[in-house]
Amino acid sequence: MQILTTPAAMRHWRLSGSGSLGFVPTMGYLHDGHLALVRRSIHENVRTAVSIFVNPLQFGPSEDFERYPRDEVRDLALLREAGVDAVYLPSGADMYPEGFQTYAEVGAIAERLEGAQRPGHFRGVTTVVLKLLNAVGPDRAYFGRKDAQQLRVIQRMVRDLDLGVEIAACDIEREADGLAMSSRNVYLSPEEREAAPAIHRALEHARTAFDDGESSAPKLRTLVQSLLAAEPLANIEYVSLADDLTLEEVEASIERPALLSVVVRFGHTRLLDNVELR
Ligand code: PAJ
Repeated sequence: MQILTTPAAMRHWRLSGSGSLGFVPTMGYLHDGHLALVRRSIHENVRTAVSIFVNPLQFGPSEDFERYPRDEVRDLALLREAGVDAVYLPSGADMYPEGFQTYAEVGAIAERLEGAQRPGHFRGVTTVVLKLLNAVGPDRAYFGRKDAQQLRVIQRMVRDLDLGVEIAACDIEREADGLAMSSRNVYLSPEEREAAPAIHRALEHARTAFDDGESSAPKLRTLVQSLLAAEPLANIEYVSLADDLTLEEVEASIERPALLSVVVRFGHTRLLDNVELR
C-alpha cells in the first residue's frame, strides 16, 4: 500500500498504473461505514485509493475541528488489511497553501438543511472534494447515503463542472441497534449511546407509515418529531421532509421521491440520519 502526501505524488501514482481507479474520500477514524465504501470500490475497480484529511474548511469556528477523533495508525492498518492500493494523506499546508483564495460553491441545494445550520460547511466540502478529485483523478468516487445532502451537492458539482467522474452512492451502515455508524458516535456518553437508536426507530416508523399509504408531509414530519420528543436526551435540531432533487420542503402531499432527514443533538453531539421515501 502506497502512502502519498502531496498532490504531485498522488498524481504521479495515478499515472504509474492503468485500469479503473476507485476513490473513497474520508476524514479518517474509520468505521464499518467507511470500510463498506472501500470494499465496494475494491470490488468494482482495478485499483482503489482512499484519502484521509480532516478538512478545516468545512468546520465552523465553534465546531469540533480540533477535537475531531483521529487515529492514523489504526486507519492505515484497516486500509492495508482491506487491500487498498494507495492512501492519500495530504497536510493542511499542502491543501491550503498561504494565500489560498479559490473555492467551489454549489447554489440552492447547498443552502438548505445542513447548509443553513452550518454556514460555509458545503463550500468547504465541495472545495476539498474538488481538490481531492483533481489530485487523485479517479474514474469512480464513493460517497455514503448517510450524508444525503452532501451526496446530492457533490453530484450537482460533478455535473455542473463536467468533472467526468462517476459518483457511486452507498447505503447507510448501521450498528446492530440501528444507530447509523459515525466517527462522532465516540463522543456519546453511555446513556446517550443507549438513547441514540431512537433516531432510526422514528425514521423507520415514518417509512412504514408512508409505505402503508400516509403521503402527507406535515403528518410524517409531526410523527417523527413526536417520536423523538419522547426521548428525553434527544434535542431535535430539524426534521425535514424534502423533495429528493431540489431539497425544498414538501408542503402538502408527497408525489415525487422525497428525503426524510433529521439532525438530533445528544449533549454536544450532532447526529444525522435519513431515509429515502420513494
Ligand atoms: P467522513 O465523515 O469521514 O465520511 C466519509 C464517507 O463515508 C462519506 O461519503 C460518508 O457519507 C460515508 N459514511 C460515513 N458514515 C457512513 C455510514 N454509516 N454508512 C455509509 N457511509 C458512511 O464525509 C466526509 O467524511 C467529508 O465531508 C469528506 C467527503 C471526506 C470531505 O471532507
